[in-house]
Amino acid sequence: MKLSSYSVENNELCLRTGSGDFVPVSGLLEGGYQRPTYIYNFDDVKARLEHMKQAFKGKCHIHYALKSNDHPVLLKKIAELGVGVDLVSAGELRKALESGFKAKDIVFSGVGKTKAEIKEALQADIAQLNVESPAELKRIEQVASELSVKAKVAFRLNPEVNPVTHPYICTGFRENKFGMDSSFFDELHGILNDSKHLELVGVTAHIGSQLRDLSASIEAVEKSLQTFEKWRSKGFAVKTLDIGGGIGIDYSSLDTTSEYEMIEEYGAEVLKIIEGHDLELLSEPGRIIVGRCGVLVSEVQYIKETPHKNFCIVDTGMHQLMRPSLYQANHQILPLKASETSSKVLYDIVGPICESADVIGHERPFQPLFEGDLLAIMDAGAYGRVMMSDYNSHAKPLEIVVENGKIVS
Ligand code: LLP
Repeated sequence: MKLSSYSVENNELCLRTGSGDFVPVSGLLEGGYQRPTYIYNFDDVKARLEHMKQAFKGKCHIHYALKSNDHPVLLKKIAELGVGVDLVSAGELRKALESGFKAKDIVFSGVGKTKAEIKEALQADIAQLNVESPAELKRIEQVASELSVKAKVAFRLNPEVNPVTHPYICTGFRENKFGMDSSFFDELHGILNDSKHLELVGVTAHIGSQLRDLSASIEAVEKSLQTFEKWRSKGFAVKTLDIGGGIGIDYSSLDTTSEYEMIEEYGAEVLKIIEGHDLELLSEPGRIIVGRCGVLVSEVQYIKETPHKNFCIVDTGMHQLMRPSLYQANHQILPLKASETSSKVLYDIVGPICESADVIGHERPFQPLFEGDLLAIMDAGAYGRVMMSDYNSHAKPLEIVVENGKIVS
């Protein structure tokens, strides 16, 4: 069994360091609890990146999906490990460059790149712009010709597969706004042929996120490879095959064995598919790298018992972790200190936001909770603080990065 980087030891929620030591999470709240606090265990990020590299036998260049967690210290440390980055805006591009990612290791995805963003990406001379429509390709060509440069582009395929995931994070189905299916081929071909400012370097696909069954991803890799070879057969010197991100985590458990196994099987399967093809393999993982590294610690403000429900009102909510409200995501919630009692009470763990959607956990069995108790919302390292909103103007959460059991920022 492979445990997550947090576990309950002697009734205390602990962070597990890379060398296997346990550090109580409560001890990481410097000066005591002040307000909602994200804690990120960098040892776990490092282990995940290393495992992913090994699963692909060192033959896949990882481009960390920056959108999943853009904490500057995490980014700097990830960049130091020599991985690349996948990003979706000029703001993310600047964060990546400031954090030390090299332009040659940057891929830029997203359906809505503005002229200014394209210009910035071309001036930085990044590795590839992942193009999502013919209109975008024309715009890139126009900006590249104004700058007198050659834009390196990869075409994002919509492989028309149907991944099993929440509809809001499915991107590879024909009804989604992302990528281009085979019907775009002739138009793209025409634009490429008419231009001296475009260089087609690759094919990319990203079919969705939080995928716990990777069979649709495998189908997408096969389709991407066919498209890649089709471009090559037309005389284009394509070289990169970018398989996107999407690998999911098991939010219901602290046992990460199935995730590790899934990555190993996926790596082996992808390597088998591309065997004998002359190409550079890229991937864009986000959640699987940082999802498990983070917890969000929150304090119980009130217990409110009604004839119908028990509410545990905490000081964090959908403004700081939107996933439960937006995708009905089931993050585990654990007390920092478990009581000895075996009695359980059902609580709805809710936040302070003026929306009935502000529920972090529905009908969760808990030890009796009291004002001032601290709870950790688990697996909040990906798509947590990055999706924060200013709605209701609460103070922003604190963030702490831990490495080798020590606070580094
Ligand atoms: N590449 C592209 C082009 C993407 O759009 C994404 C994520 C990734 C890679 C990384 O996917 P990952 O490996 O993290 O699944 N907010 C949602 C997830 C949205 C994902 C958006 N795109 C959530 O909290 O579940």
